[in-house]
Amino acid sequence: MCGIVGYVGSNKNSVHVLIDGLKKLEYRGYDSAGIAYLENNKLNIIKSVGELKKLESKVNFGVSSNIGLGHTRWATHGIADEVNSHPHKVGKFTIVHNGIVENYNELRSKLKSEGYGFKSETDTEVVAALLDSIYKTNNDVLKSIRKMTDILDGSYALGIMCEDDNDTLYVAKNKSPLIIGVGEGDNYIASDVPAILDKTKKYIALEDGCYAKITSSEINLYKDGIKKDFNVEEFKYDASDISKKGYEHFMLKEMHEQPEVFRRTTNPYLESGIDSLIAKMPDFTKYGKIRIVACGSATHAGLVGKQMIEKFANAEVQVDTASEFRYCKQFLKEDELVIVVSQSGETADTLEALNIAKKNGNDTLGIINEKGSTIAREAKMVLYTEAGKEIAVATTKAYSAQVALLSLIALNLSYKKDLVDKKEIKEILEDANKLPGYIESLLNKEEDYKKIAEDIKDYNDIFFIGRGIDYALAMEGSLKLKEISYTHSEAYAAGELKHGTISLIDEGTPVVAIVTDDNIAPKTISNIKEVKSRGANVIYITNKKDENEDGFYDKKIVVPKVNYLLQPLLTVIPLQMVAYELAKLKGCSIDKPKNLAKSVTVE
Ligand code: F6R
Repeated sequence: MCGIVGYVGSNKNSVHVLIDGLKKLEYRGYDSAGIAYLENNKLNIIKSVGELKKLESKVNFGVSSNIGLGHTRWATHGIADEVNSHPHKVGKFTIVHNGIVENYNELRSKLKSEGYGFKSETDTEVVAALLDSIYKTNNDVLKSIRKMTDILDGSYALGIMCEDDNDTLYVAKNKSPLIIGVGEGDNYIASDVPAILDKTKKYIALEDGCYAKITSSEINLYKDGIKKDFNVEEFKYDASDISKKGYEHFMLKEMHEQPEVFRRTTNPYLESGIDSLIAKMPDFTKYGKIRIVACGSATHAGLVGKQMIEKFANAEVQVDTASEFRYCKQFLKEDELVIVVSQSGETADTLEALNIAKKNGNDTLGIINEKGSTIAREAKMVLYTEAGKEIAVATTKAYSAQVALLSLIALNLSYKKDLVDKKEIKEILEDANKLPGYIESLLNKEEDYKKIAEDIKDYNDIFFIGRGIDYALAMEGSLKLKEISYTHSEAYAAGELKHGTISLIDEGTPVVAIVTDDNIAPKTISNIKEVKSRGANVIYITNKKDENEDGFYDKKIVVPKVNYLLQPLLTVIPLQMVAYELAKLKGCSIDKPKNLAKSVTVE
């Protein structure tokens, strides 16, 4: 979603820092961009619509500037044009903003009656006018920011410059991520770590309600008018973690990191076998029910987790999409554990679901990738997926790591409930050891995935079918294909097709059919036969090597057979790879699909 970067200091040229930072934030998704910088105390604002290179081509990199703000905008209020793009200047204030101010309409009317005119349709221009209007009454930037935060409703990360204070950046934060990067002789602001990672490793994470005054040599942090102490923390990863390392796309690199991510995520829990798994995880037996709440692929990971926990640990699990959960009656009971799953730890709907659960008095557990993110800080308990920085908008390695942790929760709970015998535990631990190798071997079947992509590239509608855990995987396969290859697809519970959707199956319609669960395999296979006999082109993904084959599929990908709890981590690989190869064949923007953002910080 939108990105912010800001610089104040004497060591660097702000224009270089801003453009460089915005490039590092491109992965978040945007449709316009802009910078504001001071040169000889004169403010320059440059904006452009579309790709960042357009902005770059308008910028004079030879200028000398010690302070500036940059922004990539993902349109929310008003179309993606230069007028609506940031920075916005009103009176003495220049502002960049991430988030959504909910009471901007009433503020706009009030400010209009004070004589302010508005050029854009944005809530950000209203914020700039509000600040200017307050400042006229007290001539004190910090006091004005404080007053402004009392008036604004909604989410905001704000980077602010004031004409009367040319050596200073100001920031304010509420429910939108913002960090201050601490340099030597210079300081930075950013909505996300990559923007400044090659400039400094030291940062201050801001809490909601905080605002700050930042010069090249000093940082002062405030909340409710009171100066606050702060911790300077250090980023765990470095700039090389956000490079492609020779891969054509970040998505490809991240898929190839999955063997290592599985090791890193599960090793701490499995290093001493089941004992470490029990010692290092919360006690799930005390909960009457588990509720999993998340968005997009993280919901799909939750649906895989539901199948595993219910089947293996005989515990009830309900999965909700966070954007629905927050507005429906939740019927949360006291003894229910709410698990929120999120790569970024900043997804607005997931964060709100967490807040609802906390307000209701429920225990909460975050399965989170980004350390220090809002959800990681707010959840009562956290289990980290160790996927490292994920740059491609379409998640792959973080999704796998979420599934891996959910499978460990299922194993933990079933062991504690005495539902799994020693033999099976041994088998799971052996399979876990072999899993990275198996993932690698599946990633290497590139030619098979290319052939499938070639086969399906001319079709506009593709179906993914499966039952149980395979249906949850079908959903993820379908989402991956849609988002990066712009091909419409639907995931269907295999048994549900004949209740309507089968009418869409024609000669050649691609159907990706997933069969890995022996208990329901015969049922799914008869559903596959139903679509095959109506002309479907069946791509069969299975862990069954040699069942009686009687021509019910056109292509077959065999994934190694492992324990039920680990199987999804293999089955998902061909699904990710086929989506990738199709997107590549169609010439799509794989790492930054159109209209999408990596971190969805607005609801
Ligand atoms: C799809 C994808 C999204 C995210 C969703 C939640 O490839 O990446 O569907 O899974 O936006 O994001 P997080 O996990 O950051 O909460």
